[in-house]
Amino acid sequence: MQNTCPSIRRRALAGLLLASVVPGVRAAGSDIEPRVEALLQQMTQEEKIGQLTQYSGNWNATGPVTFKGSHQDHLLAGRVGAMLNVLGAERTRAYQALAMQSRLKIPLLFGQDVIHGYQTTFPIPLAEAASWDLPAIEQSARIAATEAAASGIHWTFAPMVDIARDPRWGRVMEGAGEDPYLGSKIAFARVKGFQGRQLGDTDAVMATAKHFAAYGAAQGGRDYNSVDTSERLLREVYLPPFKAAVDAGVATFMNAFNDLNGIPANGSALLQRDILKGAWAFKGFVVSDWGSIGEMVAHGYVKDQRDAARAAITAGSDMDMESTAYRDHLGALVRDGQVAQSLVDDAVKRVLRKKFELGLFEDPYRFSDAAREQAVLARPEHRQAARAMAAKSIVLLKNEPWPATKQPLLPLQPQGKTIAFIGPLVKAVEDNHGAWAIRIPGLDYSKFIVTQWDGLKQRLPADARLLYAKGSDIQGDRRDGFAEAVAVARQADVVVMSLGESADMSGEAKSRADLGLPGVQDELVQAVHATGKPVVLLVNAGRPLTFNWAAERVNAIAYTWWLGTEAGNAIADVLLGEHNPSARLPISFPRSVGQIPVFYSHFNTGRPVPPPDASGAAGSQAFRSHYIDSPNAPRYAFGHGLSYTQFAYSDLRLDKTRLALTDTLTVRFTLRNTGARAGDEVVQLYLRDRVGSVVRPVQELKGFQKLHLQPGQSRELSFVIDRETLSFHNHRLQWVAEPGEFDLMVGAASDDIRLRASFELLE
Ligand code: NOJ
Repeated sequence: MQNTCPSIRRRALAGLLLASVVPGVRAAGSDIEPRVEALLQQMTQEEKIGQLTQYSGNWNATGPVTFKGSHQDHLLAGRVGAMLNVLGAERTRAYQALAMQSRLKIPLLFGQDVIHGYQTTFPIPLAEAASWDLPAIEQSARIAATEAAASGIHWTFAPMVDIARDPRWGRVMEGAGEDPYLGSKIAFARVKGFQGRQLGDTDAVMATAKHFAAYGAAQGGRDYNSVDTSERLLREVYLPPFKAAVDAGVATFMNAFNDLNGIPANGSALLQRDILKGAWAFKGFVVSDWGSIGEMVAHGYVKDQRDAARAAITAGSDMDMESTAYRDHLGALVRDGQVAQSLVDDAVKRVLRKKFELGLFEDPYRFSDAAREQAVLARPEHRQAARAMAAKSIVLLKNEPWPATKQPLLPLQPQGKTIAFIGPLVKAVEDNHGAWAIRIPGLDYSKFIVTQWDGLKQRLPADARLLYAKGSDIQGDRRDGFAEAVAVARQADVVVMSLGESADMSGEAKSRADLGLPGVQDELVQAVHATGKPVVLLVNAGRPLTFNWAAERVNAIAYTWWLGTEAGNAIADVLLGEHNPSARLPISFPRSVGQIPVFYSHFNTGRPVPPPDASGAAGSQAFRSHYIDSPNAPRYAFGHGLSYTQFAYSDLRLDKTRLALTDTLTVRFTLRNTGARAGDEVVQLYLRDRVGSVVRPVQELKGFQKLHLQPGQSRELSFVIDRETLSFHNHRLQWVAEPGEFDLMVGAASDDIRLRASFELLE
């Protein structure tokens, strides 16, 4: 759908970032093809297979580059197409120099997991998604690309665009949450951000849409696990963000560890040939995940590595990351007539095209410039952007009035006050970076990262006191710090507690069966709360956690995820009211693991729980789709997030209530900031198709706008609904809009609908 979102605020920064870009030297598209063909003609089979082979270097090494165990012979012989985990201008240059001694001097690609920043670390992707701020998300990826590209990297293995509805899965931190509409918008923004104006500029890196496909639906939330979905769910929920990445021009795809309906993603011709390279006409290349071609043996899909190589190349996997199946078997498979030469040649050409587009044949070292690296990594404006992004990512979940003052606890009023800052994450350093952060060799992170303690301490007025107690470890059962925490709380006017996971509790292979605050932290909140002091809780985590006791009793809760290098400053900005919180949850927060999966766009079922009556009383739930020991509703719903101001929605108008398939419908309404502070609202538009040839969700996000209003200011907003907005995969899996009644909901969250209307789509 079109949405008439106002201001796009990216121009100033774009100008700044372009300052040191060497413009693209790549050949124009029409020149590339003949060069690719000519080069292919000169290549031996071994050299071709080399282009489809990717090895890992040792990026943590801090000594001189020795190439010990680093595939030197293969590089010299032209048997490597790409490396990952080789970091820095000097190191990438040294590796490239080896490739330049090979017969055809085909440059290497350097890939890296640049997931949420390079040296300057931004919030984890799930946190950024909570900003619902597409220009800011694009800018974050732009800065990550600018830094990475200055450090010799050509290619990031990001964005992860997997829709995830199971917070047990540790990689939920790496995506954009549960919703395909929001996820698609964010996927588009991230690809644009990473790839910049064009590939070939020295501040642009190739992006990778991963993991193709449905990796986020792993059974039981266990990483690498099987996925079983209907084709409709695949097409409606899991594929749209990948399609959005293709629409944004993404250069590469990464397939996935999981099997999808019994076929490992690496061996899936449906995904890679029919959908990606067929229906979507994707011209880039597909890289496997780490060793995943070989893992098809363990899946029980192929009998050995040779068979794995056959299955993967046949299904459309172009480059083998670290399994060596292509290196060891592809040549023989072609010789023996089991794999067509044309499949190998097509994969090689896809890789070579990208190397031409990056300008590497003109200058294989153009990204490996130590002087540029030094200048770019130190840019203060990158830190400023990281701080702004971090503040925009903090979700204010709760902010109730404190009985004594009748004022919400936040923002803090620190003048003349004593604040106790308690918890195992108050003085943590590297945890603030969260999982999947780059570790630059030699950088002193204790000086680089702004801790939560330092961030707040530096900003308090001279007459305020800040006290500290750690209280407990993140994990483990030691309670010997409780007494000090309670004593410190007693001296304070207000307590801020910083609790949660350690950074390494989420990310790859970090599934959890219990989503509670780890260790004895729940008990620590209870002990501190028992002092009777007002408590503000900061929850740091890579996923939604369950913290029911605190959610019911603590007056103010802010979800801080992992915010990156500027975490401490951003948290202080929000606590002290210099940034008015504007983030909204991109994923539902369950009350318990037993509720999973819990997401807003579910079906109604034949026995829905009746809505509360006018008095708010719940109807009978007997023989309804419900739990006898828990509400169905999540603890915090998709789209939820508070502000220090309030917004009123009014005057909903539809320019028609009956529309033909070729019509558009314009929805208008008024938004007013009724509070005393300027603030951002994220206005959300949901639809429900009442009757369909297959049942439709009770709500589907179809549009949103984030906008800033001064106190008292109103703005008229509009959304335009067209046929595409109303379409879905019908009972025959055709993409159609079916005539009938639709409910339209506009609100501040999926569970906070302020305006309702209905309209009819005519035959
Ligand atoms: C495995 C992960 O699944 C993938 O996302 C990542 O890009 C590769 N390892 C390379 O580090």
